[in-house]
Amino acid sequence: MTVSVERSWVAVCPSGEVPTGSGVAALLADGTQVAIFRTGKDFFGLSNVDPFSGAAVLSRGIVGDSSGVPVVASPIYKQQFDLATGRCLDEDGVSVPTYPVRVVNGVVHVGSP
Ligand code: FES
Repeated sequence: MTVSVERSWVAVCPSGEVPTGSGVAALLADGTQVAIFRTGKDFFGLSNVDPFSGAAVLSRGIVGDSSGVPVVASPIYKQQFDLATGRCLDEDGVSVPTYPVRVVNGVVHVGSP
């Protein structure tokens, strides 16, 4: 018998509501705010909270590319965060939590970290 630990997934919205090159905010049941981003066919999940301002605004940041790394720039002070790892490219040692994101039957799901 094999025992596997299942990650829990929450359906948040239709994938068509996440525009390419942009983000949307999703509120999980426990109050966690997740920013979901789409670059082409890839989806990413980061905490929506900008660690520098404390404001839940990263979903409204500008999605771009820094030397081939997909990033979002905070709309407040413009620091850039790696969409895949949450690492801040402008400030050593700072990062935001990441969340796994999957699309099933056209619906975006966010997983437990
Ligand atoms: S339900 Fe509209 S963006 Fe998620």
